[in-house]
Amino acid sequence: MGNADRHDHASSSSGPPRRSPTRSPTGASDPPALGEASGSGPGPTTTNTNDQIEADYSTDDDGFDASTTNSYLTSIASDVRRGVEENGHLYAAHGMHKTYLPIGGRELDRNALQHCKFTLMLEGKLFLAPIVAKPQNILDLGTGSGIWAIDVAEMYPSAAVVGVDLAPVQPSIAPPNLAFEIDDIEKDWLWGEDQFDFIHGRELIMAIRDWPRLVRQAYTCLKPGGYIQLSGSLPDFQADDGTLPPDVAYLEMGRIYFDMSARIGASGREVQNWKRYLEDAGYVDVVQHVVKIPTNPWPKDERLKKIGAFELAHFRDGIANVFARGYEDILGGDPVYLQVLLAKARQEVMNRGMHSWVPFYYVWGRKPE
Ligand SMILES: C[S@@+](CC[C@H](N)C(=O)[O-])C[C@H]1O[C@@H](n2cnc3c(N)ncnc32)[C@H](O)[C@@H]1O
Repeated sequence: MGNADRHDHASSSSGPPRRSPTRSPTGASDPPALGEASGSGPGPTTTNTNDQIEADYSTDDDGFDASTTNSYLTSIASDVRRGVEENGHLYAAHGMHKTYLPIGGRELDRNALQHCKFTLMLEGKLFLAPIVAKPQNILDLGTGSGIWAIDVAEMYPSAAVVGVDLAPVQPSIAPPNLAFEIDDIEKDWLWGEDQFDFIHGRELIMAIRDWPRLVRQAYTCLKPGGYIQLSGSLPDFQADDGTLPPDVAYLEMGRIYFDMSARIGASGREVQNWKRYLEDAGYVDVVQHVVKIPTNPWPKDERLKKIGAFELAHFRDGIANVFARGYEDILGGDPVYLQVLLAKARQEVMNRGMHSWVPFYYVWGRKPE
């Protein structure tokens, strides 16, 4: 990773305007309640997903009305300047390793849809780590469409925000205090020591081979007292009431994902190890907060129902992206079989009688002063 690369911005800013934040910071003292999750922030260092979500057995179809994606999708401008085209998808041309998540149109739509879901999960917050009220420097790892970085830059206009990604797919119009950089975060980082108040990484799917190294590099670049927060799903579908048969196709899709990611050395199960990696690297006050994402609008609770509708839309319209390159390339799988499996899974996942959910991990920790 060189300084020349570092300045290969998709868009850039001339630096942070020195104004006071107009919106209040988020904080872990008031964690989101996704039905069952509790106890983040001060207090227990691990929450679990033991509590059961109450199902909606009513016959009205409001939940499914809510599952139509279009009203939720945010359209975002993109400027795809480089990439490799394969099977109708575009892939990043930059980086040490071949990538398996496409970039461009459909993937940017998926990023936008996911961002809406994640924000709803946190009841409007962008993160849970209890960072300082007026951060000066924030880094977003694997920023993708830049949608989180844009929101955080607007939330903290006095902070300089950097969003870094392998792919130059970020919008050319962004807040003035946000700069996008094209770089590989698996390489040596050249950001300064003690530079950032907050380093954030969300849904770095099949992206990171060496998480311990990444969290150590983040430790070096964080200011004393600064926080790192990682978040991501573990597509190990479950149900608390026996309504998920073991032979459904979307359980098989989860297994394929774990298999693919493990074969390239970027295991999808690593989210479960993040807490330990942070502790081993020297972070303190490490918190793991796990929430359940319902796989369709089966819950009774309105907010969970809506989150389930987003998850359903994501599965139905976006999940194929995750398998587009890797299924054949990594596993040598038959693309026809994958299409059949996907079609079956898309049908199954709409069944509101299956009360399944997927765990989503938030892990954060502080570099000691
Ligand atoms: C699933 S997207 C998530 C985007 C964003 N974090 C979000 O939550 O909206 C993962 C992103 O990580 C990027 N990525 C993968 N490997 C990377 C690497 N080694 N260095 C930088 N970015 C990487 C991909 O290009 C992709 O944009």
